[in-house]
Amino acid sequence: MTELEVALSDREFDKIRERIYKIAGISLGDAKRTLVVSRLSKLIRAKELKSFDAYVDFLDKRATAADKQTFVNALTTNLTRFYREDHHFDHLVEYVRGLISGPHQKSANGKPRLRIWSAGCSTGQEPYTIAMCLMQHFPQLRNWDFRILATDVDTDVVATASAGIYPQSDLEGLTEAQAKMFEIVGDGTIRVPAALRKLMTFKPLNLMGDWPLRGPFDAIFCRNVTIYFDKPTQTRIFGRFAELLDEGGFLYIGHSENMRAESLGFKLQGKTIYQRQPDASGRAVA
Ligand SMILES: C[S@@+](CC[C@H](N)C(=O)[O-])C[C@H]1O[C@@H](n2cnc3c(N)ncnc32)[C@H](O)[C@@H]1O
Repeated sequence: MTELEVALSDREFDKIRERIYKIAGISLGDAKRTLVVSRLSKLIRAKELKSFDAYVDFLDKRATAADKQTFVNALTTNLTRFYREDHHFDHLVEYVRGLISGPHQKSANGKPRLRIWSAGCSTGQEPYTIAMCLMQHFPQLRNWDFRILATDVDTDVVATASAGIYPQSDLEGLTEAQAKMFEIVGDGTIRVPAALRKLMTFKPLNLMGDWPLRGPFDAIFCRNVTIYFDKPTQTRIFGRFAELLDEGGFLYIGHSENMRAESLGFKLQGKTIYQRQPDASGRAVA
C-alpha cells in the first residue's frame, strides 16, 4: 500500500461490493481489492475523509448525485478498442447486406429503417466501428433512417465517446482502409468524421435500471459487459435484449461470455453471435 492509499478492511470491502452490485450489477471478486483501493482512495482523499467507512457513510447521507456517479465511474472497467473481435463486424456487414436487399421496415418518414444498439459502449470505439464498417460497405445507408444508440453506465466514457476524439495510437493494428476513415487532427489525435458522428446517439444508461428505449433493434452489441454480472443478472439482461430485438435480429456478446440461448429465445449462429427467434418471448426459463 502506498502512502496515498486508504486502508480497506474486509468489512469495508464488502460494503463497497454490495453498493456497486446494487447500483450497477457489477460483482467485484476478491481479486478486485487492489483496484478498489487504488481507484477509491483518490476520491476519499479529495473529500478529505479518513476511511472507507467514512466514505460509505458520506455516500449514504450527504453525497450529491454527481458524487454517487463518480463512485460508479471509478469502479467500471472500460477496456475497448476499434475493430475488437472483428468477426462480429464481418457478420454484421453480411447481415445488413441481406437486410438491404430484402424487404425492410420503414420509418414514419418513409425511409428504410436500421437501428443498432451498443450497450456498454465504453469510450465509443465499438459503436464507431459499427458505423465505419457499415458506411464503408453500404454508402446508400446515407439515405436510410439509420441510427446507432450507444449507452454506458459510466458518464465519463459517454462524454469521451460523444466527442469522438482519440489518440492517434488507437490506429495501431488497423488496416490502411480502416485508418483512412478517421480525420487526423494533427496534435497526436484523430477524430471520427462528422458524417459518422451524426449517426450516433450517446446516452448514459444503467442496464440494471429502466430502459427508456424505442425498439425494435436490428442488432444489439453487448460485449464484455455482462462478464462483470452474476449469472441471474446476465440471464435477465439477455431476456430483455430479446424483447427489444426484431425477429431475426442479432445479439453480439463478448468472447468469454455465453448464454442458454434457446430458453431466452435465441439461436446460436456463430461464435458469440445469437439470432432472435420468431417466437422469442424474451422471458428466461430459469
Ligand atoms: C470492458 S468495457 C466493454 C466495451 C465494449 N463493449 C467492448 O467490448 O469493447 C465494459 C463497459 O460496460 C460498462 N458497464 C458496466 N456495468 C454496466 C451497467 N450496469 N450498465 C451499463 N454499462 C455498464 C462499463 O462502464 C464499461 O464501459
